[in-house]
Amino acid sequence: MDFQKLHESVSTMRVGTEPDRSFYLPTGPHGESRRLDLSGEWAFRWFPDFSAIFSSGMPELDPEDFGTVRVPHVWQTDGYDRHQYTNIRYPIPYDPPFVPDKNPCALYVRRFSVSRSQKNMRAYLNCEGVDSCLYLWVNGVFAGFSQVSHSTNEFDVTDLLRAGENTVTVLVLKWCLGTYFEDQDKLRMSGIFRDIYLLFRPEAHLRDFFVKTELREDLAAATVRCDVETRGSCSVTAALFDPKGTLLDEAPVTGGKVSFSLSSPALWSAETPVLYRLELRTGEETVSHAVGICRREIRDGVVFFNGKKIKLFGVNRHDSDPVLGYAVGEEELLRDLTLMKRHNVNAIRTSHYPPAPKLLELAGRMGFYVVCEADIECHGAAAQAGLARYEEDYPDLAMREEYAPVILDRVRRCVERDKNECCILMWSLGNESGYGPNFEAAGRWVKARDDTRLVHYEGMNHGPKDRENDFSMLDVYSTMYADFPLADEYCRKSEAKPYFQCEFAHAMGNGPGDLEDYVLQMLKYDRYLGGCVWEWCDHAVYMGRTADGRGKYFYGGDFGEYPHDGNFCMDGLVYPDRKPHTGLLEYKNVIRPIRALKAPDGQITLTNLRRFTRSSAFARISYEMRAAGETVCTGSWNVDIPPEGTVTVVPEGPVPAEDGTLVIRYNAPKGDPFFREGELIGFDELPYGGGRAVPAPVAPVGRVRVDEAPLCFTLTGAGFRYVFDRRTGLFREMSAAGSTILTRPMEFNLYRAPTDNDRNDRGLWETFGYDRPAVRVYESTCETPPSGGAVIRCHLGISSVSILRILDVTETVTVTGDGEIEISAEAVRDLRAPYLPRFGLRLFLPRAFDGVEYTGYGPYESYLDKHRASSYGVYTSSVADQHEDYLRPQENSSHWGCTALAVSSDSLRLRASGARPFCFNASVYTQEELAKKAHNYELTPCGDTVLCLDGDQSGLGSGSCGPLLRKNMQLCDEHLSFRFRLTPEIL
Ligand code: GAL
Ligand code: MG
Repeated sequence: MDFQKLHESVSTMRVGTEPDRSFYLPTGPHGESRRLDLSGEWAFRWFPDFSAIFSSGMPELDPEDFGTVRVPHVWQTDGYDRHQYTNIRYPIPYDPPFVPDKNPCALYVRRFSVSRSQKNMRAYLNCEGVDSCLYLWVNGVFAGFSQVSHSTNEFDVTDLLRAGENTVTVLVLKWCLGTYFEDQDKLRMSGIFRDIYLLFRPEAHLRDFFVKTELREDLAAATVRCDVETRGSCSVTAALFDPKGTLLDEAPVTGGKVSFSLSSPALWSAETPVLYRLELRTGEETVSHAVGICRREIRDGVVFFNGKKIKLFGVNRHDSDPVLGYAVGEEELLRDLTLMKRHNVNAIRTSHYPPAPKLLELAGRMGFYVVCEADIECHGAAAQAGLARYEEDYPDLAMREEYAPVILDRVRRCVERDKNECCILMWSLGNESGYGPNFEAAGRWVKARDDTRLVHYEGMNHGPKDRENDFSMLDVYSTMYADFPLADEYCRKSEAKPYFQCEFAHAMGNGPGDLEDYVLQMLKYDRYLGGCVWEWCDHAVYMGRTADGRGKYFYGGDFGEYPHDGNFCMDGLVYPDRKPHTGLLEYKNVIRPIRALKAPDGQITLTNLRRFTRSSAFARISYEMRAAGETVCTGSWNVDIPPEGTVTVVPEGPVPAEDGTLVIRYNAPKGDPFFREGELIGFDELPYGGGRAVPAPVAPVGRVRVDEAPLCFTLTGAGFRYVFDRRTGLFREMSAAGSTILTRPMEFNLYRAPTDNDRNDRGLWETFGYDRPAVRVYESTCETPPSGGAVIRCHLGISSVSILRILDVTETVTVTGDGEIEISAEAVRDLRAPYLPRFGLRLFLPRAFDGVEYTGYGPYESYLDKHRASSYGVYTSSVADQHEDYLRPQENSSHWGCTALAVSSDSLRLRASGARPFCFNASVYTQEELAKKAHNYELTPCGDTVLCLDGDQSGLGSGSCGPLLRKNMQLCDEHLSFRFRLTPEIL
């Protein structure tokens, strides 16, 4: 057999496969399984070079040379070959349809026995997922070839089987024609990674079916229609069961059609995942399928589901596990979907391929709107001439006529397999493959095949500029990572398609920022269908533990591969082990199902954002009044808000005169399928009562002795000794009650360990030396005014080697006889310098200062544009516990909006407060250490407690892939300032 020809040719994309059909598992008339599962142990042998072994057919191989693996798996996680992570760039030369001769591959062999009665049936071998392609033999006879990694390939092997012992042999290649269409941004893995099994079926059987539901305009009646196709002639009876399992009706299928009429149907939605069940029986076989009754439509550019405008607050999900790779089973799928439900997520885009069929079944049962994507991404075409020729080269495969069948095949497979899944709201033609006639044709095919769902394809934005592209078959206008103005502009257009951000808020590292603003914008326009955060999980490979017990996760480049894209694969809302990132907690709260608004008169309007559910079904509502972050009173509102409705309430009890906030909590009632009773599903926090008073500046009082020397001022008073460095403009030494407070001189701090979202700004920050600032004090004086105390005044500049004066600072430091300090800095920024990551002070305290107590946004890390999971309150913690352990270390654990802080050892406490709310981090690591280390398990504590007090810190954004950090989130004003009061206390 000419192996090469099959896997490098469009005309032999599939050999010996059955026509596509919807997914189902038939049973015998009494529910007996008709499936012979072939998962489990297979003999396995990996070869680095396909053509060296197989160029003239299947060689004689010694069974002794085979190892074993457990299928489903990917061979890289079993120690064969090696991992590679690449995003856009193809891992092979761009030369379609050819792939390297030296193509890693593996032979899988399994024996199984077939009973006499099975031998008398038709036998179909089903592979639900093999990356990248497979050659199949049964008992040594070639049975077929196919590709499209994330689709089911079914082979009729009836004539090749015998009663008794049989052998199935599968040759899997790492690369084939399909590789050019599967350039998804992920770790590239290979093998039989989904279920593989035989189905034994009667000679004549049901081959395919397509259930559609129709709803009367007033939703009070529905029709369930099913088209049925058989192989051979057999009569089929259909039975419909209600959600409780009661038989509603039975009817024969005639002319391939059957339908049921229902009055007062229970409707399926992501909020109300009620399922009917359709049984199709031939007498010898039964096929059963969950049916959700629903209607999807667009009216005036707005998506309606069961007559209601819906919003998708979704995530993009890949098959990915740090141990199993792509080979995730039901347990892992359930874990992901349960976690999503527990974070209020209501939509999933199956980026960028159809998921295992089980996922769609679970999504139907648990309630998610799904954007089901075809297994297509040709992003690497854009990079074929280097990264520069995006516009010209991107649509290469979308344009070339010879690849039209490949694209159509992939889209068709997706639709055919999953067409009966009620959870699917939209079909997606694929991802990032440019635009052109091949996608237009595929889209037209989908519209003709399924008139009940919408079609989406973001690649619509990347067609050839000189071509008149046709988008008529696309139902929505889709973008990814579009900035706020674009969405506003589009949604305000009068005649337009619904708008969908198939990817937004790139969740890489510390971030994403701006989630609240994204969601507010989505809520503002009916036309804005919503979006899916990129992405659900970090992809990495678990490599065991270090000697000191720290988990090791590898990412791109850690495997010595070329090319690779570093840690760009770790951009999810959960860590690889599914521990939620703080970004997921943020998302959970910004997509909470109830939102509160306060009117000037103190009345609170609660809006239920669910479209089909009364609030009492999912939330109990209570409140807590706080003054300065401390509870003043609590209460609850016994209200039941209708879907899309509002109620107005007023909190009872004293209204704080100063620094008041009202926290409104939504807690799960008893019996919620995903939240435990009382668990928080979301909360609002509103300023309530009096505002925050600006603390008066520290007055210079008390006896302070000043010793002035050319390079320093030494200040001593009741139990303290501070040395102020006249060359740095800050304290060099501080002690109280004979104990050291500073282990290193205090510093001005402009820098942060770059987050992943800072990746585009980092270079400029470092060019401007923000990571190594140089201070020059031009003038310093110290006075002891008649009122007492001491006042130091400095004029200083902060610049860096080779760099201009970034900040011109006027500083005043007041010290009282009790040792209280106030440091006030007013800075003028040179506008030629880039925006600052932060502006504040850095203190190194003895490590014994481990206790942290603060009033501010906690308990999670919080930032200017990411603080909605946190609430303004009083929190205690330890410095060690503050660290948020990003796998690639970076800035973390800042607390925003703080009004008070204390860091304590057993004998001393250092209090800090600001003239206005400030940010701080307390860490065992320095920002330099976080910036330098590539992995969390390489981090070494510096031995001190590092305390950063920031007047301000820039927001986080999602610039790792999304838009640049918005100006209002940048520390870019010309005038910057902070005023910190530091009070040492002896304990
Ligand atoms: C998008 C792409 C995703 C992923 C993301 C970056 O452009 O569709 O697959 O690559 O960027 O993480
Ligand atoms: Mg891509």
